[in-house]
Amino acid sequence: MLVSATEMLNKAVEGHYAVGQFNINNLEWTKAVLLTAQENNSPVILGVSEGAGKYMTGFGTVAAMVKAMIESLNITVPVALHLDHGTYAGCYKCVKAGFSSIMFDGSHFPIDENVEKTNELVHVAHNLGMSIEAEVGSIGGEEDGVIGAGEIADPAECKRIADLGVDFLAAGIGNIHGKYPANWKGLDFDALAKVKELVGDMPLVLHGGTGIPADMIKTAISLGVAKINVNTECQLYFQEATRKYIEEGKDLQGKGYDPRKLLAPGFEAIKVIVKEKMELFGSIDKA
Ligand code: 13P
Repeated sequence: MLVSATEMLNKAVEGHYAVGQFNINNLEWTKAVLLTAQENNSPVILGVSEGAGKYMTGFGTVAAMVKAMIESLNITVPVALHLDHGTYAGCYKCVKAGFSSIMFDGSHFPIDENVEKTNELVHVAHNLGMSIEAEVGSIGGEEDGVIGAGEIADPAECKRIADLGVDFLAAGIGNIHGKYPANWKGLDFDALAKVKELVGDMPLVLHGGTGIPADMIKTAISLGVAKINVNTECQLYFQEATRKYIEEGKDLQGKGYDPRKLLAPGFEAIKVIVKEKMELFGSIDKA
């Protein structure tokens, strides 16, 4: 069932768990995430970056595929189709394409400009029953060409953005997209607690979910994080399983070259890591 992410995340705050956002890249990714959510009775958010949207030939293609797949696979758990780190123009494209949720990432703008653009998009999204995420303080590292310095969010700025009526808020707390470097200092829980104190029950979003140790994930959830984004880890699982298939020469045996066979181990690997994350985040049986 395609829904906005508002209700599932408000429920997550109340129930002290988090819903995973898993970024999708193609049909295999989408099918793997949807089936895992259904099998585990978990709500789920499909994240689409602007780069992934372009790769899949446009947001319209993505929305059509996701809607058709929800129907053909008989997916009854709540599913949100969400733009990840959207630009101003990208948000409008996803509104038009029929997404159920958008993220406007105005974190690289001066705060007044971030407030102004976020405010406009909150009205647009809410008029259409869509949910909207905003960002303050950038997420470090690089994702699909979006590069962030990894600033810690200013709690007062978070409050200004939260007061606009966004449905959930990404606040940079030392989290990084991609693999964490060996000298990573960890999440800044003092900063997270300060943000939480000012924004109350607004669901908070933790980007850069790949490689964050389980104890930090649990602490983050206890401090109001209700949405956790995972992208790189699914890619790594897919890559490892595909490499193994080829290194074992399976592509050379019989009809092992059939793309449906070649992509199957990667597909199964995504299902494994998505289930593991749903267990860690506590979203199983919360649909
Ligand atoms: P990772 O690639 O580090 O898991 O981050 C995903 C993310 O935050 C998507 O916005």
